[in-house]
Amino acid sequence: MNLKDKYIEFFVSKGHKQIPSAPVVPENDPSVLFNTAGMQPLIPYLVGQVHPYGSRLVDYQKCIRTNDLESVGDTTHHTFFEMLGNWSLGDYFKNESIEWSFEFLTKVLNIPSNKLAVTVYEGEGNIPFDETSYNKWKSLGFSDEKIVKTVEDNFWIAGECGPCGPDTEIFYFKGGDDVPEKFDPEDDRWVEIWNNVFMEFYKDKDGNVTPLPKQNVDTGMGVERTTAVLEGVNDNYKSSIWSDVIDLISKISGLSYEGNEKSMRIIADHLRTAVFISGDYSSIKPSNTDQGYILRRLIRRAIRHAKALGIDEFSDWEQQIAKIIIDKYKIYYKELDENEMVILDVLRDEKSKFSKTLVKGLREFEKVINNNDRIDGESAFHLYDTYGFPIELTIELANEQGISVDEEGFLKRFKEHQELSRSASVGKFKGGLAGDSETEIKYHTATHLLNAALKQVVNKDVHQKGSNITSERMRFDFSCDHKLSEDEKKQTEDLVNKWINEGLDVSVEEMPKEEALKSGAECMFIEKYPDIVTVYSIGNVSKELCGGPHVSNTRELGVFKIIKEESSSTGVRRIKAVLNNE
Ligand code: ALA
Repeated sequence: MNLKDKYIEFFVSKGHKQIPSAPVVPENDPSVLFNTAGMQPLIPYLVGQVHPYGSRLVDYQKCIRTNDLESVGDTTHHTFFEMLGNWSLGDYFKNESIEWSFEFLTKVLNIPSNKLAVTVYEGEGNIPFDETSYNKWKSLGFSDEKIVKTVEDNFWIAGECGPCGPDTEIFYFKGGDDVPEKFDPEDDRWVEIWNNVFMEFYKDKDGNVTPLPKQNVDTGMGVERTTAVLEGVNDNYKSSIWSDVIDLISKISGLSYEGNEKSMRIIADHLRTAVFISGDYSSIKPSNTDQGYILRRLIRRAIRHAKALGIDEFSDWEQQIAKIIIDKYKIYYKELDENEMVILDVLRDEKSKFSKTLVKGLREFEKVINNNDRIDGESAFHLYDTYGFPIELTIELANEQGISVDEEGFLKRFKEHQELSRSASVGKFKGGLAGDSETEIKYHTATHLLNAALKQVVNKDVHQKGSNITSERMRFDFSCDHKLSEDEKKQTEDLVNKWINEGLDVSVEEMPKEEALKSGAECMFIEKYPDIVTVYSIGNVSKELCGGPHVSNTRELGVFKIIKEESSSTGVRRIKAVLNNE
C-alpha cells in the first residue's frame, strides 16, 4: 500500500470521513488562482460552518503552487503536489492530533522514533507558548533536544488573513542511522514531513487576531516529499512517484537522466501539472490570463526543454508522457480518466501553436541578445507577444547565456496588456452570471423558473445547456428536439408568471453533492461542482445546484416574457426572454 492509501485508511480507522479532493481552482475564492493547501477548500468550515460530513475529515488534495516556478528543475520543487490532511472541526485538539501523527509515523510507516524531531510554538504577544503540544511530545518520549521552540515557523496561516494558529512541525532525519542527539531545523538532513496546525484564531485584514468559535486541527503532509525521504532517495524525481515518467523521458530522448536532470525534471513536473490543470473539472484551457496563462507557461516551458533534449517536437512525445501520468493517477482522480481526451487535445494544440513560433522566436532571441548584455522590457514583451515566449522562458534562455532581463519593464508592459484582456473576461467565475446587479439577480432566478417550466410544458427531459444574462435580457439554451409551438411558448410563459405571482420563497441549503442529486436537484455540469454544493429551491417548483445569488421571493421578478425562440445548435433550442416591471 502506498503512503496515500495508508494515510486515508489510518485516519478513517480513527473516525474520520474521507472527503474527495476539491478541484484545483478554488470554488469561491477569487483571491488565489489555485488551491495551495489541503485546508483551502475547507476554510468556510474552519471558521464555523457545519460540514455535512461531520467533524473529522481526511483527504488528499490536489495543490498547485507556481510562485517559485523557476526553482523547478532542482531535486525538490514541484508545481503540483498532493497534500494529505486530516481535520478536526471543533472535535479533537492537540493531544489526539499529536498522538495519532506519532502513531501513524511509528506504527504504520514504521519510522524509528529517534529519527523524528519536532518544533512547537514558543509564544509571542497575546498568544502563549504551546505547552500542551510540548508536554504531549515529551510524554511520547521526545527529549528536550528533539523539541525546538520557534515563533515564526510555528504559526501558520494561508496568505494574509483567515483561520490560523500555532503549529507543531514534524521532521524526519534522512541522513541515515547516525542520528544527532540534538535536532537542528536548519540542518537539511532534517526534513519537515508533517505540519499540524491548531487553528483557533482568525486574523482579519487589519491584522487583528481573535479566537474562532471552535478549536480546529488542520494538518498537511506532502506526498512527494514524504515518499522521497521514506524511500531514502535524495532527489524526489528518483522516488517511485516519478521514476516511470523519468524513464519514459529518457527513452523518448535517448538520453540518460544523469547529466540531463534539469530538463527532464522540468518536463516531468510541468507536464504532470498541465495534466491536472487541463483535466480538472474547472475546464481551464491555455490562454493569456490567470490559470490559463499558468497552463500555457507550463506546457511551453516543457516544450522548450524537450527541444533542448533533442526530442522531435512533432512526435507524440507529450502524449506518451501525459498518458503515463493519467494512468497512474486516474484511480485517485476520476476526472483524469473522464477528461483524458480533453487533456491530450490541450497538450497537442498548445504544442502545435507554440512549435510554430518557437524556432522563429529563438532566432529573434539570438538577434535581441546580439551585442547586448541585457534584454530590455520591450524586447522581452515582443518575444512574449509575437512569439509566445513566457517571461521565465526568456529569462531562462538569457541566463544560460549569462545575460540579464529587465523583468520589471516586461511586467509593466504585460500588465497594461492584461488589463485589456481582463476586462473582456470579467465574471467568468460566476457561472452564467456576468455581474450581480439587481436586475441580473432577478434574471438569474427567472432562469431557474424557466428551466422548471420547460420541463413541465415541453418535456421532463429538457436540460439546461447554457445561459447568459445581461441587465437587458436573459438567454437560456436547453436540450429539445423541436421548435417550440406557439402554444408551448405561451404555456411556458404563463407558468413562469403564475409562479411569480404566487410569491414563492427562494431558499438555499448546503449538502453533499450526491445527496443533492438524489433529492432530484437539477444541475448543468455535475462534475463542475464541489463535493459540498449549495442548492437553491423556489417553493416546491424548482431545485437546482447553483452558486446564486437569487432574489428571496419570486414576486420581485415582475412580468416574464419570451421574446424569441430559435435554434442554437443541433438538439439545442435557445430562448431569449425579458422581465418587465409593470
Ligand atoms: N495547512 C497546513 C500546511 O499547509 C497544514 O502546512
